[in-house]
This record gives sequence, structure tokens and C-alpha cells, in this order.
Amino acid sequence: MPELNKKINNFSDSVIRRMTRIANKYDAINLSQGFPDFDPPVELKESLREVAAGSMHQYAVTWGAPNFRKALAEKQSKFMDLEIDPEKEVVVTCGSTEAMMVAMMTVCSPGDKVVVFSPFYENYAADAILSGAEPIYVNLRPPEFNFDSKELEQALKAGAKALILCNPSNPSGKVFSRKELEIISELVEKYDAFVITDEVYEHIVYPPHQHTYFASLPGMFKRTISCSSLSKTYSITGWRLGYLIAPEEIIDGARQIHDFLTVGAAAPLQEAAVTALNFDDKYYQELEQRYKEKRDFFLKGLDEIGLKYTEPQGAYYILVDISEFNFDSDLEFCEWMIKEIGVAAVPGSSFFKEDVQHLIRFHFAKTEATLEKALSRLEKLPEKVRQRNI
Ligand SMILES: Cc1ncc(COP(=O)(O)O)c(C=O)c1O
Repeated sequence: MPELNKKINNFSDSVIRRMTRIANKYDAINLSQGFPDFDPPVELKESLREVAAGSMHQYAVTWGAPNFRKALAEKQSKFMDLEIDPEKEVVVTCGSTEAMMVAMMTVCSPGDKVVVFSPFYENYAADAILSGAEPIYVNLRPPEFNFDSKELEQALKAGAKALILCNPSNPSGKVFSRKELEIISELVEKYDAFVITDEVYEHIVYPPHQHTYFASLPGMFKRTISCSSLSKTYSITGWRLGYLIAPEEIIDGARQIHDFLTVGAAAPLQEAAVTALNFDDKYYQELEQRYKEKRDFFLKGLDEIGLKYTEPQGAYYILVDISEFNFDSDLEFCEWMIKEIGVAAVPGSSFFKEDVQHLIRFHFAKTEATLEKALSRLEKLPEKVRQRNI
């Protein structure tokens, strides 16, 4: 048989989804793959029911149904403090996953270099391989996950075409400060690079931290492709609705790529989601408060068990330090924890370019009952590890 595409061999299947499969096998509580175990807002489910009974079941406009783009542009103009033109500056995609891939394929030709902060969301490495771009990694150093501006400058100086900015960040929970974003903006201006943002956690930020949209910084809209989605903000990861926002010249290219990748996002789901895009500010305040309560509840439990972690500033992940447990690798630890403790996490090494074996990632987008159950299992961790290491 002829050989398959060589690119396939350059990345393995997702470690996160592999952990989910093992968790299912051992009936463990799955705190690895980041999605909520609670329902989206009831108005949204009702809206979907009404749309399903109607006649909107054929292709929408390739770059997004007009209703959806209008509501999205209004909402994002308000939060991003920009005037976004729904006719020229938006493409609706199948999740932020497609938006990021389209952004990469729009700005990068094969062989172009892309700056990626490490640790990174695992899709970016695959996006780079599939679009033919070569990643240059810049360290975010644990436990604070700050970057060294000289290292970033070296990476951009090496001729980078674009920089990927995940903010708020998965897996570190870092929310880039305005000052840090200004440093990035000076450097991308100096070395003339695009910025591709992934801002799916834009509304999950814990005070006093605040989310600053990179595109809103002075002079940055012209070189920024803002990618995000409705998955996390409205607890609808299965609807696969995302988008890119950028200046018209970039969007023209992105629409072409998107058209041939997927044609478009599901028409009835776009129509139903307009309801969510029209929610008032209270919705976002409550969302933030709800996640803050989950975070604080989970962190308190980890404190009581005596686990060490970096407190997340945004998103719903937490990196826990396992160095004291003396396992050969984070993967070995995670597999052992699924079987012996009944809780699944992701080995931190799958997010780092460097060889980092002492971190694991939990997510806490779960009901309090699920988190409580997970914590009560994790209480046994220190004793079980002690028995194992005798
Ligand atoms: C940083 C980040 N970007 C993108 C995604 C995927 O988003 P979507 O469901 O919109 O494709 C995730 C999902 O976990 C994520 O953590």
C-alpha cells in the first residue's frame, strides 16, 4: 500500500484524550479533558429546541450566518473596546480549534517560523505541523510562568512570521498582564510579526486579574487575528462554534481557507446561539463568580491534602507539583493515580517543549459534587504513595 502522509508521524494522538479513555476504563473521575459536566443556560437549550422545529437546516453563509455575525460583532465590540464590522472582519468557524488552524494557514507559508510559548495547548504543535510552519518555543517559567523578554526578542528576531498567544492560558492558568502584552506588542511591531490569539477563556478570569484583548492595544488590531469560541463561555463545547476577528485583508484570506476546510459551522446552532450572544453583562459576571467558587473550593481541598500548585489567574486548569512523590515520570504517575486513586489528570509533559516531568494538570469545570468526590479520593494520595514507595 502507498505510504500515508509523513506529517501524521510527527504527532501522536492527544494525551488528554488518551487519559480520558483510561479514566473510562477504570471508572475514574475525569479531571483531565477540560469540559463541563453541567448544562448550558436553559435559554440556550430552549432556543435550540425552537430552531430545530423551524426550517433553518441548510448551509449558512460560508463565513457565518448574518444574525450570528451581527450579534457576535456587537458583543465583541463591547468587550474588546473596538468597532468590529460583522460584514468584513469576522469568520465563524467550527470551534476555536478550526479558527486557530485557519489563522495559521492564512498567515504562514510552509517553512515560516511561529513563536509558541511553552507550556502550550497541545493543538498548536499540530497546527504548526499541518500548516508547514516551524515552531520556535519561548519558555514560560514555572511556577510563575513569566517570560524573559530577551528570549522572546531572540525568537522574533529569528524571522518569526507570527506569535501564538493563549490568554488566559491553558494549561498554566496565566493571565498576561497589560504590561506583558505591551512588551509583546513592542516586539511584534519591531520585528513585524502577526499575533494569533486564542482567547477561549476570555470570560473566565479571577479578580484582581483582568483580561486584556491583545487586539485592543494601540496599533495592534492590524496585525492580530483574534480567535475564540462559544465552547467555554456558554458551556457548549459540543456545538463547535468559534470565530476569527481580524482586519478585512486578513479575513478575506481566512474566508477562502475556511470555505475549503469545512464550508461552515452548523446553521441551526449558529441561529440558536444568537440568544447567548445577546445575554447581558450579568451573565458574564455570574459565570466568573461561579468558576471562582469552583476554583476556590478545589484549591482549598488541595491545600488540605498538602499538594503544591500554582494558583490559576484564569481558565479552569491547575498545574500541581508531584516532585515529592518520586515517580519516574508524570505519565507513570497519572496512570497509577487513575488505577489506585480513581482520579484522572493530564501529565504536564504533554504541554511543555522542555523535559518537565514534575507537573500534572487537573481541570475544575465540574459540579461541586464531582469536585468533592474527586477531593475525597485524592485525600488518600499521600498515604497510597507512601505505601507504594516503601
Ligand atoms: C486554549 C484552548 N483553545 C481551544 C480549545 C478548543 O476550543 P473549541 O472547543 O472552541 O474548539 C481549548 C479546549 O480545551 C483550549 O483549552
